[in-house]
Amino acid sequence: MKFDSPATENPIDRLQVVGKPLDRIDGPMKACGKAPYAYERHDVAPNAAYGYIVHAGIAKGRIVSMDLAEARRAPGVITIVTAENAGKLGKGKRNTAPLLGGPDIAHYHQAVALVVAETFEQARAAANLVRVKYDARPGAFDLQNARTNAVKPKSEEADTAVGNFIEAFGKAPVKLDAVYTTPDQSHAMMEPHASLAAWDGDKVTVWTANQMIDWGRQDMAATLGIPKEKVRIISPFIGGGFGGKLFLRAESLLAVLGARAAKRPVKVALARPMMINNTTHRPATIQRIRIGSTPDGKITAIGHESWSGDLPGGQPETAVQQTRLLYAGANRMTAMRLATLDLPEGNAMRAPGEAPGLMALEIAIDEMAEKLRMDPIAFRIANDTQVDPEHPQRPYSQRRLAECLRMGAERFGWSARKPQPGAVRDGQWLVGMGVAAAFRNNLVMTSGARVRLDKSGMAIVETDMTDIGTGSYTIIAQTAAEMLGLPIEKVAVRLGDSAYPVSAGSGGQWGGNSSTAGVYAACVKLREAIAKRAGLNPADAVFANGQVSSAGRAVPLASIVSDGELVGEDKMEYGDLDKKYQQSTFGGHFVEVGVDAATGEIRVRRMLAVCAAGRILNPKSARSQVIGAMTMGVGAALMEELAIDKRRGFFVNHDLAGYEVPVHADIPHQEVIFLDEVDPMSSPMKAKGVGELGICGVGAAVANAIYNASGVRVRQYPITLDKVLAGMGGSAL
Ligand code: MOS
Repeated sequence: MKFDSPATENPIDRLQVVGKPLDRIDGPMKACGKAPYAYERHDVAPNAAYGYIVHAGIAKGRIVSMDLAEARRAPGVITIVTAENAGKLGKGKRNTAPLLGGPDIAHYHQAVALVVAETFEQARAAANLVRVKYDARPGAFDLQNARTNAVKPKSEEADTAVGNFIEAFGKAPVKLDAVYTTPDQSHAMMEPHASLAAWDGDKVTVWTANQMIDWGRQDMAATLGIPKEKVRIISPFIGGGFGGKLFLRAESLLAVLGARAAKRPVKVALARPMMINNTTHRPATIQRIRIGSTPDGKITAIGHESWSGDLPGGQPETAVQQTRLLYAGANRMTAMRLATLDLPEGNAMRAPGEAPGLMALEIAIDEMAEKLRMDPIAFRIANDTQVDPEHPQRPYSQRRLAECLRMGAERFGWSARKPQPGAVRDGQWLVGMGVAAAFRNNLVMTSGARVRLDKSGMAIVETDMTDIGTGSYTIIAQTAAEMLGLPIEKVAVRLGDSAYPVSAGSGGQWGGNSSTAGVYAACVKLREAIAKRAGLNPADAVFANGQVSSAGRAVPLASIVSDGELVGEDKMEYGDLDKKYQQSTFGGHFVEVGVDAATGEIRVRRMLAVCAAGRILNPKSARSQVIGAMTMGVGAALMEELAIDKRRGFFVNHDLAGYEVPVHADIPHQEVIFLDEVDPMSSPMKAKGVGELGICGVGAAVANAIYNASGVRVRQYPITLDKVLAGMGGSAL
């Protein structure tokens, strides 16, 4: 089915099941331990051996020699896989550096060997007996230094320009020119990367934790040099991803290679302290923002440049993305420059681009509002646009940013905010409020599904879509239930298996809308088949209350299939509506903080997000997504930073003791409001993404609240109390 004109009224609009705040259908299984993660699949391979990865101890250089003799003699050891004995390996197109290094080393903790043994402890002990001699070479580990030889990345949109930015900025009566930095960050999802691989002849099955089943399958096949059909990836339950599990990673490839060498199933998990340097991370940025305005607050010039780094062949962090779209202004420019760094691979983490980009832009907007003596909400609304500012003939499909900000201001009690920093005190606490706009593009991706109706009237949905903790199972069940007129209990959902139709997968907040649209398409096919089998006219058949009816005749779905099953399979594909209309999601983040007047300690006191993201398919799971993202935004604002050892080139705080994220005690009550909205340009579901919108802007709202509380403007994230104290200059307010 192709979606190429605005959605008209359809069965989803009845909202009998879709749009309801239903509990997760996989919740009871999760709570009862019946939703096993990859490493827990004892049932499928009871004789699995254990693999432990040897990780490179240098960031750049070569392996001179590898002595495996002692490790081979260690108790329980079955085999050791290295680049020398693994056979010829290709590279998946989504991997920057080889997943199994040697002799060349691309980054610290790159896998260089897998020791396979009878038990985990034996594999780990033997891995420590592998002697590797390196010839270490100097590498580039410091973005500030590497920035000077940064180049224009290959993407065609590395530079954008409209009007004459330099001239307009030069002439602007009110202007800001400031530099902001965001650090390297780690996904730090709860479930570490883990895989179990088993060969059957020339076919391999991998139970793993992967957000994008078909990408993983393609890249595994390409790395092994075998046809995609010989690889099966199974990933039904995933303990978080945030982008860290978008791609094939080393533990998965090594489980497969280990199983081939050991001639039995092998499971490999990345221990927590190995995850951070072995896998991907969100790259640090340096961002320069220039804004020029008329004295009454109309932006005339807006410019955003961003520098980031990656391994050779890598990509930039697209931190300027939102600045091309968020505010009006006749003269504009953006630019991205990419430096070569020899740190581990940089890649997508929740809302790549916008999340770090808004951390800078939305402080800059706050700073401009102050220069203009305008309320920061009024300044944002004054520069709102209903069209893509680079292509004014291109409208937004929906854009209710101003409404999000106005409603948020009212609900949050914004009118009580004092524009003068340091004006509100509550005992030892200096109290302030901050706001930021939220913005994240909505992407639509082809997605397929198969829906089967069985004899009992049960509908079974199969798609390789994943649920990374987001609620995919539930919204997919809601979609099928709505389309077939069934209660949700009569729908079963099977996900995360490459044997099922290829879906959009979970990434870039496209999964919710795209995967359910694929289920919609499959259900359209199944409805036709059901109507025909019932002898009803498919064109006017109505599916409701567990039956299909037409022309005064109703047939229960449970009586349609007497033998076998009826199957509907299709995928939703997209035309060019996303080119004709800019599709984005919007919101307003409101934060109140307290800053300790003596110590600079920062406590978040209240948070509110108002989101406009099309139809909300399940307000309960959507709210969970947004409050999780708001929490992650607080981490980005106040805590998260991968500290780099700039001599040896690795992230030093590579565990959850050193890499700090918010805990319950850091997070106050959070409120989330969804505007009542449908977006007919997105899909027949009329929904958009929301899981990444929730983090976009939060960091800046926290930063702006800290400024309003204390008068200290910190432009280098994370905003730790040492930076606040330095700003307060000991002059206790
Ligand atoms: Mo998202 S960073 O595309 O999982």
